[in-house]
Amino acid sequence: MKDCLIIEGGHPLNGRVRVSGAKNAGLVLLVASTLADGETILDNMPRIRDVEVMVQILNELGVNARWNEDGSLSICPPPAGSMKVKTSYELSKKLRASNLLLGALLGREREAVISLPGGCDIGSRPMDLHIKGIQALGAEVDIEHGFIYARSKTPSGARVYLDFPSVGATENIMMMASRTPGQSVIENAAKEPEIVDLANFLNSMGARIRGAGTDLIKVEGVPELKACRYAIIPDRIEAGTYMVGAAISGGDVQVENVIPTHLHPIVAKLQETGAIVEETDQGVRVRAGRQVLPVDIKTLPYPGFPTDMQSQMMALLSLAEGSSVIVENVFENRFQIVDELKRMGASIQVEGHTAVVRGVKTLFGARVKATDLRAGAGLILGALAARGETTIENAIHIFRGYENIEEKLIQLGARVKTK
Ligand code: EPZ
Repeated sequence: MKDCLIIEGGHPLNGRVRVSGAKNAGLVLLVASTLADGETILDNMPRIRDVEVMVQILNELGVNARWNEDGSLSICPPPAGSMKVKTSYELSKKLRASNLLLGALLGREREAVISLPGGCDIGSRPMDLHIKGIQALGAEVDIEHGFIYARSKTPSGARVYLDFPSVGATENIMMMASRTPGQSVIENAAKEPEIVDLANFLNSMGARIRGAGTDLIKVEGVPELKACRYAIIPDRIEAGTYMVGAAISGGDVQVENVIPTHLHPIVAKLQETGAIVEETDQGVRVRAGRQVLPVDIKTLPYPGFPTDMQSQMMALLSLAEGSSVIVENVFENRFQIVDELKRMGASIQVEGHTAVVRGVKTLFGARVKATDLRAGAGLILGALAARGETTIENAIHIFRGYENIEEKLIQLGARVKTK
């Protein structure tokens, strides 16, 4: 298995790149497909490692999930009452998003045994809000031996207030509520575009969800859902990564197959750094500015600046004419890229949730390692601008969430190879 990306810096990205379907919409819609009877077909699904693992997990539970020749993904759950309800530790530990089966299995089978995902590189990531939500809808929950045991004999709709607009908790509650009798209301719900895509998908199968995209979501439960064909939204984080790629490498890139409104928080910050960003008929065009200006960033839930773009922006700001302050408000341990960028000559100081990035004239190629998906993306961007060659180890982290990244970078003129 190729696990190293080798990048020769100094080659600006120029040309067009087509964004794939969104990882974080694809994963939850794959799971939500099990709430319906019949064959669901999902289009625009990215062929990335995380999606392949989720397909494996579903097949392990008795679902027939397979890729079709036209690149779409078919999902056929077994007859009601016959789907397995326990996820395996082995597969779940490979994919945190397997915890989204909690809401789907409770909605469909009234029972779920989910391997606790535990923390990951970017934070402790508890599931207290997920559990609070399903308990409010009538689930009894025990946590034993590293598993969440949940059963809902007589579920009924309820009002749930989320202490934090958690994406995963909102998605799990929406999926359970979609097939739970009565009305459920989620207050302080997450507003990410992936939440709206999930609601649109479920409504296409006969669910009754209103208010997705706002902080108040109402769900009228229905007894059954019918399979459908649905195309998922494009990946705003993949798009943002190539947009920063243009700015950091001194290039000019047309990013296609995007929904511009989803990119507004990223566009706003990129423009503040001096990059020229324009909406076009095909998508968004980004041209590097004459210099990179320092900018302060605070990550926040949508429509705030996405935490999944923080590492990529840190790489860009490490070359700014001055100092920038980055505050990470969503995950408590998402500055692991810092030591790796410092190996490339960056000057960054971290104090708790705050990083002060003092811009330097040049980054230098080095051997570095990807500690998580987005840190890996940030290192690719640093390497594009660096003098000399950079070797990024643990590239498997990057292949988890970026479809055909090597080919797309080469198409834009980058000098990249894998080993
Ligand atoms: C989703 O993770 C995304 N993953 C993440 O993308 C993304 O960073 C995150 O939302 C925020 O936008 C998927 O959609 C598969 P959260 P999720 O629940 O649902 C705390 C990437 O790089 N929290 O909104 O796990 C939690 O610890 C990935 O593509 C609780 O305290 O995120 C975190 O600090 C990384 N209790 C914060 O909320 C809970 O019960 C946000 O987590 C749940 C969450």
